[in-house]
Amino acid sequence: MRKVFLTINALLVVSLIAQLYLAALGVFSEPEEELFRFHGMNGRIVLPILLILWIVFGFLARIGRRNIGLTFVALVLLALQTVYFIIAGAMGATPPPNATTPGATPYVLALHGLGGTLLLLLTVWVFFRVRAMGPIVRPSGEGEPAEQGVRSATPAP
Ligand code: HEM
Repeated sequence: MRKVFLTINALLVVSLIAQLYLAALGVFSEPEEELFRFHGMNGRIVLPILLILWIVFGFLARIGRRNIGLTFVALVLLALQTVYFIIAGAMGATPPPNATTPGATPYVLALHGLGGTLLLLLTVWVFFRVRAMGPIVRPSGEGEPAEQGVRSATPAP
């Protein structure tokens, strides 16, 4: 299970790195909105699916309360990526093709870049934390095999 969790984690990291590339692709293309749609698609479809699977497999892989908590922090950070747009909209910002960013809205929208970067760093951190836990080991000896969620380094009873 830990291997599945780590595989999804790795895919999430790759997808987040791609998300940064796709943002820059949108910014440096003309008209901007056309190629930005790949960033939007990855952000609205691929990232949420991977993140939900990541959390589900986090429970199945028994990665521990702290790591589970961190996966939920990642979920909140991803949701905030949309919330920044909503807040800026409520403050009067308008989207392309007639984009306007009045008052303090650029500062709110810029949190989108910061939040995304924090999300990427968080997923990398969780990957190494869980990898260091090693595989789930089954107790040797009698009875039905059961996943114990203990470190592989722990000597078997
Ligand atoms: C890893 C970092 C990033 C993540 C995880 C991320 C995530 C997202 C998500 C989830 C959406 C969809 C929001 C929605 O419509 O509900 C989105 C859209 C958008 N993001 Fe990012 N983003 C990141 C970096 C950036 C950067 C650096 C920029 C600045 C150029 C940017 C600009 C935009 C814009 C303009 C949209 C709207 C695109 C559209 O309407 O299709 N993002 N992003």
